[in-house]
Amino acid sequence: MKKIAIIGTGYVGLVSGAGLSDFGNTVICADIDIEKINLLKNGEIPIYEPGLKEIVQRNVKAGRLSFSRDVSKSIRDCDVVFIAVGTPEGENGTSDLSAVFDVARAIGENLNGYKVICTKSTVPIGTGVRIIEKIKNYSKSEKKFDYISNPEFLREGSAVKDFLWPDRVIIGASNQKAIDMMKDVYRPLYINETPIIQTTIQTAELIKYASNAFLAVKISYINEIANICDEIGADVHVVSKAMGIDGRISPKFLHPGPGFGGSCFPKDTKALISTAEMLGLNLKVVSGAIEANQSQKSRMVKKLMDLMNNDVSEKKIALLGLAFKAQTDDVRESPAIDMIDALLKNGAVVNAYDPESNANMKKKFNDLNVFDSWEEAVKDADCVAIMTEWNEFRGLDLAKLKELVKSPVILDTRNILSNADLESHGFKYDNVGRK
Ligand code: UGA
Repeated sequence: MKKIAIIGTGYVGLVSGAGLSDFGNTVICADIDIEKINLLKNGEIPIYEPGLKEIVQRNVKAGRLSFSRDVSKSIRDCDVVFIAVGTPEGENGTSDLSAVFDVARAIGENLNGYKVICTKSTVPIGTGVRIIEKIKNYSKSEKKFDYISNPEFLREGSAVKDFLWPDRVIIGASNQKAIDMMKDVYRPLYINETPIIQTTIQTAELIKYASNAFLAVKISYINEIANICDEIGADVHVVSKAMGIDGRISPKFLHPGPGFGGSCFPKDTKALISTAEMLGLNLKVVSGAIEANQSQKSRMVKKLMDLMNNDVSEKKIALLGLAFKAQTDDVRESPAIDMIDALLKNGAVVNAYDPESNANMKKKFNDLNVFDSWEEAVKDADCVAIMTEWNEFRGLDLAKLKELVKSPVILDTRNILSNADLESHGFKYDNVGRK
């Protein structure tokens, strides 16, 4: 098996490192963030990701997984180097690639023998060529390397499962030797006949953006259908179920909600548009999905204001869930941000509870009050809004909720509560397309 260095220990790097070591490879996860590496060396996981702690511990114990602050040495010691650093949004919707290019430079400077360099970070189409150039420019020796684009399709909250049992693996390469190395790296997946798509570097880069943008379009589409349901009194869940039975459509990613968030769809849709613009193309469908998504977030605010007869001043509003989706502590681009922002601006007192992301949201809104349980957050509330579909809220005890709040008013932006139950408990309510 191969000796692998993963540079960057965010959720992609860490999950990939743990997963590749579980496949039998020897993996060093390296990062310049000393604090993160110290935490990991002490057996702690810096992010909330189900199953990650167990797989990390198992492989550390087996001696296949280790952590290092020394990026240069980690590169020198390995045959395969994965670039897994962040690519945050830069100016005008482009991606900020400075961390990726810093790693490319470190690779060039530490190229002490043949290596396969593999990018997992989501990078705009054409970046692979630029990474190859950088490595060559900084490499003092004439040592050879091959480059692979190997985008990830991990979802936060189920990233470990997605890594170990992927729907497909994309290998974008220009050279058979590198592809053979990857066959070794991903050997268990080749054995269990996971679909592996071998293609060019640029095609692999595009597959990642095309996939994320398509899913974003699908979500915005069903959200707009839900809005029609609101108007005509239809049930969007029946509509999506019936649509999803059609194999050409599929039931996945057809759940309406408060709009997509997270670190991927909002950023990747903009980046794809920006790439297309550079090519002189106008991506009308993806632009529409972004616009519909912003409207959907605002629509949730309007729904709450309607429930409150447009007056939230000095009213206590309780938000259940702050993360952009369940099973993560990530609040980036979360629809809860738009809600909190609007409520605070309109003079409301905002109380909230999220099982994992209270601290992350509190960093964004100092005036937000966070609590350790939903019961504390909803006490004496004039209105409750479910913002994230945590299981804990699916089984909400409505009788208890009614006793705790001041007024039984609830906005369910994730459609996890039953209308019949809400009605039998005397709640005034709204949801997304299920009136
Ligand atoms: C997404 C992709 O699903 C992954 O395949 C990809 O690897 C990842 O981006 C990435 O590029 O790194 P992620 O952002 O973690 O993963 O989460 P998703 O489960 O895709 O959800 C994204 C957003 O869409 C969330 O706000 C979620 O609530 C929303 N969503 C999802 C819906 O509103 N409806 C759905 O039916 C599904």
